[in-house]
Amino acid sequence: MRTVRCAVALLLGMLLAGCAGAALAGDPDRGEKLFTGRIALSARGAAPTCASCHGIGPDGKSPLGPSLYGVAGRAAFRVTGMAPADYLRQSILDPDAVLVDNYQEGIMFRGYRETLTDQQVADLVAYLLTLQP
Ligand code: HEC
Repeated sequence: MRTVRCAVALLLGMLLAGCAGAALAGDPDRGEKLFTGRIALSARGAAPTCASCHGIGPDGKSPLGPSLYGVAGRAAFRVTGMAPADYLRQSILDPDAVLVDNYQEGIMFRGYRETLTDQQVADLVAYLLTLQP
């Protein structure tokens, strides 16, 4: 009986570990609200709103960081062999990993890895993927 329970526990553990690694489904509408600040990114305003630095319009206007107009298209070519969703995810969680358009490191907020939930990141990535050229 004991061995059976152990085997079940082991199997459950493996299943859970497998699930944790799987990508969450993102909601682009919620992602848009997070991006623009209509839904707060974090309690107490610890994380700045994406739109405070990034414009998304075809005019290319953007306050502090690069315009994200059409970023879903560029995301496929930034890093060879990296899927667009993975690149965009990395851009949020590890902004200095790839520096675009001669921007310096350290301008984009580095704390999203600590302040955002996995679901929020998935929602933001789903939204960014809608920003087609
Ligand atoms: C304080 C300003 C600032 C904030 C806030 C900010 N960013 Fe950025 N972001 C930048 C800068 C500067 C760069 C360019 C440097 C680099 O590549 O890391 C950048 C780069 C990016 C890129 C890469 C664009 C490309 O063309 O490859 C993406 C995607 C991005 N940011 C998404 C976001 C999202 C989503 C948020 C909100 C969760 C956010 N940023 C918040 C300043 C900011």
